Amino acid sequence: MRDWIPARRPALVLAPMQDVTDLAFMRVIARRGAPDWFVTEYFRVHPGSALRRDILRSITENQTGRPVVAQLIGGELAELTRTARALSAHPVAGIDLNLGCPAPVVCRKHAGGGLLRDPDAIDHLLGGLRDAIDGTFTVKTRVGHGDKREFARLLDVFRRHAIDGLTVHARTVADGYRTPVHDDCVRLAVEAMPCPVVANGNGVDVRTARSLLARTGAAGLMIGRGAIRNPWIFAQIAAEHDGSSAPEPTHRDLLEHIGELYDEVARETPRFVERSHVQRMKRTLVYLAHGLAGGAFEHQIRRAERAADFFAICRRHLDHQTPLPALPPADSPIFRGFDALLGDPPLPDRAETTTFPGF
Ligand SMILES: Cc1cc2nc3c(=O)[nH]c(=O)nc-3n(C[C@H](O)[C@H](O)[C@H](O)COP(=O)(O)O)c2cc1C
Repeated sequence: MRDWIPARRPALVLAPMQDVTDLAFMRVIARRGAPDWFVTEYFRVHPGSALRRDILRSITENQTGRPVVAQLIGGELAELTRTARALSAHPVAGIDLNLGCPAPVVCRKHAGGGLLRDPDAIDHLLGGLRDAIDGTFTVKTRVGHGDKREFARLLDVFRRHAIDGLTVHARTVADGYRTPVHDDCVRLAVEAMPCPVVANGNGVDVRTARSLLARTGAAGLMIGRGAIRNPWIFAQIAAEHDGSSAPEPTHRDLLEHIGELYDEVARETPRFVERSHVQRMKRTLVYLAHGLAGGAFEHQIRRAERAADFFAICRRHLDHQTPLPALPPADSPIFRGFDALLGDPPLPDRAETTTFPGF
C-alpha cells in the first residue's frame, strides 16, 4: 500500500459502497479524476460462498490504471483464507478485511462491525490471514462497537499482525452515520500503528478533506458518499495539493455525469429493464441530487419511474451553468456532522502540522 501513496500529498481512496462502486462507477469516476486506489464492494464469505461475478469484474476488467483491493466480509478464518487464495488468481492489488459494516444481519453473524465486540476473534482472524496472504493485506474498521473507548484495545490487536494499512471510519457501529466523526481516534491510530493509516468519514469537499487530514495526520483519505455527490472531489483535492487549477463543475456538468453513469451502468447490466434501471439510478441520485434546487430535485426524482421522466427532471434542475455548491446543506440528514470538520478549532495550515507516517 505504501507504494500507492503519492510522494507529495496524502493518498486519496474511493470508499467501497455496496451496489454503488461497481465496475461502471469506477470507470466513470476515474474520468472525473481517479483516486489513488479503489476497494471493491465486499465479497460475502461463508461456507460454500463463491466469488460474486459482478464484483470480480471490477477487478478483472479494471481499466482505470489504478490498483483495486478486494474487500472480504466474514467471520470464519478457513473460509476467509480460502477466498483470499481464490482471489490471488486474479489481478487484485491486495485483500482488505471489513470490520465496520453495521448491518444487523451481518453483525449477528459475527462479521463486519459485529466482530468489534470480540477483539480475540479479530486477533485470530488477522493472524491467520496475515500468514495466508503473501501480498498486501489491509483492514477497514470502525472505532468500536458501542463506544470509542474500545478503540485502544482494538489498536493493540491490529498492531500485532503486520498489516499493510488501516482505514478508520471514525465512528462506532452504534453511531451508524448519525454523528460527527471521532477524528481523535484516527490520530490515535496514526500514532499507534506502524503502517499507513487512512482516515474515513464525512470528507465532502476540499475543506472537510483538508480538515480531517490536518486533525489526524493520516497518510490518506478515503471518501465514499462525498465522491458519489461530487465525482470531481479527488481531482479538486489533488489540485489543491499540486497548486494546479481545480475543476469547477457546473450543474450542466452534473447532468452530463448522470447521463454517462446511466449509460455505463446500463452497459454492464446483464438484463436491462428500464424501470429497474431507473430505480438503481435513484439510489445514486439520493446523493447526487441532495440539496440542489432547494430540495425540489431530490423530491421530484423519487417519483420518476421511466427514463423519460428521470431525464426530464434532471434537465429541469441541472441544465444551466451555475457552479455546483461545494458543501451539502448545513442541516443535511445524509451527511450528518460534516460541519464539525469546518468549525473550531480554526483549521491549522496542514502543511505545517501534518506528519506522514512511514515517509
Ligand atoms: C451505500 C453504502 C454502501 C457501503 N458499503 C460498504 C462496503 O461494502 N464495505 C465497506 O467497508 N464499507 C461500506 N460502506 C461504508 C463506506 O465505505 C464508508 O466507510 C462510509 O460511508 C463513511 O465514509 P463517507 O462519509 O466518506 O461516506 C458503505 C456506505 C454506504 C453509504
